[in-house]
Amino acid sequence: MGAGLFITFEGIDGSGKSTQARLLAEHLRATGRAVHLTREPGGSTGAEDIRALVLQGDPDRWSPETELLLFTAARRDHLEKTISPRVAAGDIVISDRFVDSTRIYQGITRSQLRAEVDQLHALMIGREADLTFLIDMDPETGLSRAKGRGGAEERFEDFGLSLQQASRQGFLNLADEFPDRIVVIDGNRPQEAVSADIAAHMDRVLG
Ligand code: ADP
Ligand code: TYD
Repeated sequence: MGAGLFITFEGIDGSGKSTQARLLAEHLRATGRAVHLTREPGGSTGAEDIRALVLQGDPDRWSPETELLLFTAARRDHLEKTISPRVAAGDIVISDRFVDSTRIYQGITRSQLRAEVDQLHALMIGREADLTFLIDMDPETGLSRAKGRGGAEERFEDFGLSLQQASRQGFLNLADEFPDRIVVIDGNRPQEAVSADIAAHMDRVLG
């Protein structure tokens, strides 16, 4: 079987990544493609265990350096157990977040560790997505949507609005840095308009 495709969704909390990843998976499955929907942190048994460590509890629970190591450990397990085997089998793997989130949160907004993020990525992961949809979103709306979900995984939302604002700008700068891979999608619209945009782009890529 030929190699599949690895697609990621990125953006601030509450921007609609999970919703749009699911809708893109439905769109592609309707055209007969084998699709595996996954997420970070998580996406494999070991990585889901690490997810609970990083997303729950006190905002000060981990330093940015420790967080970087935990997110990268989770990503390595996700890559080994889920992403690489499925892409090799010909599936389209869609991940809700990947290394761009680490470049922004641990690299820029939580701390200035961008060089360490890239070094660790080159050393232990060594793979970028084939295509990334960045859902751009007003930070206040995003934060209120994310908070509206409730639940225990609020450690990052608890860093507040200023982190969301800086993260949004960071993601837009990243899109300028990787123009061939990252497509910016306006998320400040009804979800059907956003998903139609993404599906149209995907159909063009797949020919
Ligand atoms: P993320 O994965 O980026 O945090 P979600 O997809 O979980 O975002 O969306 C956060 C919340 O906002 C959910 O309750 C979802 O139903 C809602 N939502 C998603 N997209 C839109 C949209 N375009 N307009 C209004 N609400 C939305
Ligand atoms: P996620 O569950 O995707 O949150 P949301 O659905 O609200 O967008 O991710 C949880 C948090 O983890 C999010 O605030 C960003 C953070 N995160 C990092 O800081 N670094 C990373 O490498 C990843 C993957 C996520």
